[in-house]
Amino acid sequence: MFTTEQITDYYKHYVLPTYGREGQVMVRGEGSYLFDAENKKYLDLYPGWGTGCLGHCHPYMAAQLADQLKQLIHVPNNYYNPWQGLLAKRLAELSFGGFTFFANSGAEANEGAIKLARRFGNETGGRYEIITFLKSFHGRTLATITATGQPKYQKGFEPLPAGFVYATFGDFESLKNAVTGKTCAIMMELIQGEGGVNMADKTFYSQVQQLCTDKNLLLILDEVQTGMGRTGDYFGYQTFSVDPHVVTLAKSLGGGFPIGAMMVKPEYSHLLPAGTHASTYGGNPLACRASLAVLDVMEKESILENVKTQGAYLRERITAMQKSTGKITDIRGIGLMAGVDVAPDAGALKLACREKGVLINAIGEHTIRFLPALNITRQELAYGLDVFEQVLTEG
Ligand SMILES: Cc1ncc(COP(=O)(O)O)c(C=O)c1O
Repeated sequence: MFTTEQITDYYKHYVLPTYGREGQVMVRGEGSYLFDAENKKYLDLYPGWGTGCLGHCHPYMAAQLADQLKQLIHVPNNYYNPWQGLLAKRLAELSFGGFTFFANSGAEANEGAIKLARRFGNETGGRYEIITFLKSFHGRTLATITATGQPKYQKGFEPLPAGFVYATFGDFESLKNAVTGKTCAIMMELIQGEGGVNMADKTFYSQVQQLCTDKNLLLILDEVQTGMGRTGDYFGYQTFSVDPHVVTLAKSLGGGFPIGAMMVKPEYSHLLPAGTHASTYGGNPLACRASLAVLDVMEKESILENVKTQGAYLRERITAMQKSTGKITDIRGIGLMAGVDVAPDAGALKLACREKGVLINAIGEHTIRFLPALNITRQELAYGLDVFEQVLTEG
C-alpha cells in the first residue's frame, strides 16, 4: 500500500516541519507494542507521549468506540449528549464534585483555566496576573506558551499576552515575592513533566495551598500529565494531598483519543456562564465514550494498583542501575512517571534502545523520561529495563 520511503517523502514535501521526527512510520499498535511499516515490533515505554494509559488499541476501548461510531460521532454543544453528561458525573465523583468543561487537548483545557482565572480576577477587584513556574509546560497556544516558563517555546512569537509572572518551582520565597495586588491565580504542574520530571518538597505544595487561601488566589493544577492514574491515584492532587480549585486534564483522560477537560469546584462554576467559552468538538460523543471506556478499564483491571506495583519496580530497577553502572546522576518521579538523569547523551541512548526495539523518551541532553502504559505488565517493563540497562552499560 505504501512504503516508509514514500510516506517520509510526502511529509518532506507536504507537512509543515514543526516536529523533529524519528524515521519510523508507525502503522499498528497492540498494548505496549508498536509496529512500523516494515512490521518491526517495538516495546513502547511512553505510548502517545503519556496519552496511552492503556497502551495501544485496548480491545474494550476499541469496541466501545466502534459501537459509538455507528451511533453518533459528533453533535455540537447546543444539544445534550449522554456521554458528556455521564463522563462529567464520573469525573465529579472521582474528584471534588466539580463541574467540567470539555476541550480537545491539554493546551485547550489550560486556555479554559486561564480564561476562568481572568473572570475570577475581574470579579474580585480587577486582578489578572497568573503566576506560573520556570521549567513548566502548559501547551503551545499563544497563552499557554506564555504560561510555560521556558523561553525556548516563546522565542519569535512576541508580543506575548500580558499577565503572566514566573516563580521558581519548589522555592516558596520566589513564589511569595511574585504575588502582587494584581495576582488572581497560580497555575502549577505537581510534577513538571516536560521540564524534566521535577518535583518539589511536600511542604512546598502545602505552602502554595496556604498562600492561595491567604491571598484569595485560584489554585489551578495542570494535571494533563499527572492526572488519570499516572501517580497511582486518579489525580495527582490526591497523591500530593493538595486541594485545588481547578484541575486540567488531557493525555490519559482519552487513552490516546483527543480529549481535554477543565474541572472546576462548584463555587467557581458561575464564572463561565453560557456564551463565555466554547469548543465545537469539545465533549463530543466519541471522545467522551473513549474516556468512559478508559475509566471502565481502570476500574475493572485495577490499573491504579498496577501503577503502584510497577512504579515501585521501575524505581527499584533504576536505583540498582545507578549503583551498577555509575552513569545515573538522579532519579525523580512517582508512580509510572520517572525522570532519569544520565551521564551519557540521552539522545544516543534513545537511539540505541530503539535499535533494539525499545522506545524511550529523551527530554533534554541528559534526561530520559519513562511514561509507560499504566497497564504495562511486569514482564514487559522488565524487558524494557533490561534493554535500557544494557545500552546504558555499553554507552
Ligand atoms: C503538563 C502539560 N500541560 C499541557 C500540555 C499540552 O497538552 P497538549 O499537547 O494536549 O495540548 C502537556 C503536553 O505535554 C503537558 O505535559
